[in-house]
Amino acid sequence: MEQISVAAAREPEAIGRQVRVHGWIRTRRDSKGGFSFLEINDGSCLANVQVIADSQLANYEADVKRLAPGCSVTVQGEIKASAGQGQATEIHAQQVLVHGWADPEQYPLQKKRHTFEKLREWAHLRPRTNAFGAIARLRNEISCSIHRFFQDEGFLYVQTPIITTSDCEGAGQMFRVTTLDAAKPPRNQQGEVDFEQDFFRRPSYLTVSGQLEAEVFATALGKVYTFGPTFRAENSNTSRHLAEFWMVEPEMAFFDLIDNMDLAERFLKRLFRDCLEHCLEDMRFFNERIDNTTIHTLQKIVESNFVRLSYTEAVEILLGSGKKFEYPVGWGQDLQSEHERYLTEEKFDGPVILTDYPASIKPFYMRVNDDGQTVRAMDVLVPKVGEIIGGSQREERLDVLEDRMRQQGLDPEAYWWYLDLRRFGTVPHAGFGLGLERVVQFVSGMGNIRDCIPFPRTPGNADF
Ligand code: 4AD
Ligand code: MG
Repeated sequence: MEQISVAAAREPEAIGRQVRVHGWIRTRRDSKGGFSFLEINDGSCLANVQVIADSQLANYEADVKRLAPGCSVTVQGEIKASAGQGQATEIHAQQVLVHGWADPEQYPLQKKRHTFEKLREWAHLRPRTNAFGAIARLRNEISCSIHRFFQDEGFLYVQTPIITTSDCEGAGQMFRVTTLDAAKPPRNQQGEVDFEQDFFRRPSYLTVSGQLEAEVFATALGKVYTFGPTFRAENSNTSRHLAEFWMVEPEMAFFDLIDNMDLAERFLKRLFRDCLEHCLEDMRFFNERIDNTTIHTLQKIVESNFVRLSYTEAVEILLGSGKKFEYPVGWGQDLQSEHERYLTEEKFDGPVILTDYPASIKPFYMRVNDDGQTVRAMDVLVPKVGEIIGGSQREERLDVLEDRMRQQGLDPEAYWWYLDLRRFGTVPHAGFGLGLERVVQFVSGMGNIRDCIPFPRTPGNADF
């Protein structure tokens, strides 16, 4: 007896084979002719396999007729051609073994449709729904595609630490890591909490970015990327922010901002193309049920060039748009999501790369332009989601970098190792960060980023 997945059992090539399939019941329907139809799903694909369970089965009355959504089973039987709609095959069961029952009175997914908000309360069960199965497979595809892309481009995968003592983005929105007693922390002579007695002997945090450590490896090994969890303690309850998210960060020695933009554009196109090619069944589901523009949007992006403009040009466009925005537009102000959406959805109808932002609204590590006012930053913006990538050319000049740190209230001493990269054999270099969940959100068309990660962490929610 051959053990196969539901996906394999649905293929016409499987017809005539004796197989065993494991999975969970999605539906049971009893026919008047003395048999039951079972729909079984095992997560290998969106669709279910149909099983015909005949009343001749020894446990037909005792087990089969009691099967309800959520029950786990193993079915043995022969795969035959199906006359039914939407499937090429079906399994004619010779044996149905029940592993676990799911009481229809209690099983939360008994009802066909729940809102995504409701399903968030059942993060432990929602992977059993069509939408979250599809999201899980999409996330897997994008993660693999990320690695394939960078490996094909000759990048080295490096692992950067999760616990850190430096604030990469300089915004101070970090989670503290400590073993001190919160109720009674040790104090120094000034009465302040004495972090010298803490586990790492100084204030330590969960990382907001692996960039600084990636730069260490890029300035030794050329082209590298890091891909892992990152944490932000910003109190933003939006549909695009998580407190814990995954970020992929390539960092390249001898790259300038143009090389960086070219790489980012090639990278995103490759991810979108892989989703369309390898996740077509799930993409069709998203297109039908979540956002009926998503497939068309991705296809169009893959074939077009991203618009590139400077922040200053974008501000002029926004000011001249005649639109009434909630937040005013002005040179020197950060762009709000409504401004980004105007550019990507109304003005250019596609991805836009904005460059050369005011130095005052960007982190210390971005390379200062000759005008002294702007930095070699780039943000890639896409319709609906807004910023999907943030990056820059890095400041490789020691004196300029130290000045920028002081301007932003950072102590260059604390970043001595980062500055050493400029002291010894400094090189022009660049990199960017892409949020995995923002990609999943953009590709699937999901309205809320909390539905694009298995276990979302947001202000007030880390329950399970
Ligand atoms: O623009 P950010 O903050 O850039 C950095 O962290 C740089 N150190 C990256 C680099 O140059 N190596 O974040 C990069 C991306 C954003 O464009 C967004 O896609 C995602 O990370 N991101 C978030 N995703 C979900 N929730 C949040 N709170 C996010 N903050 C950033
Ligand atoms: Mg950013």
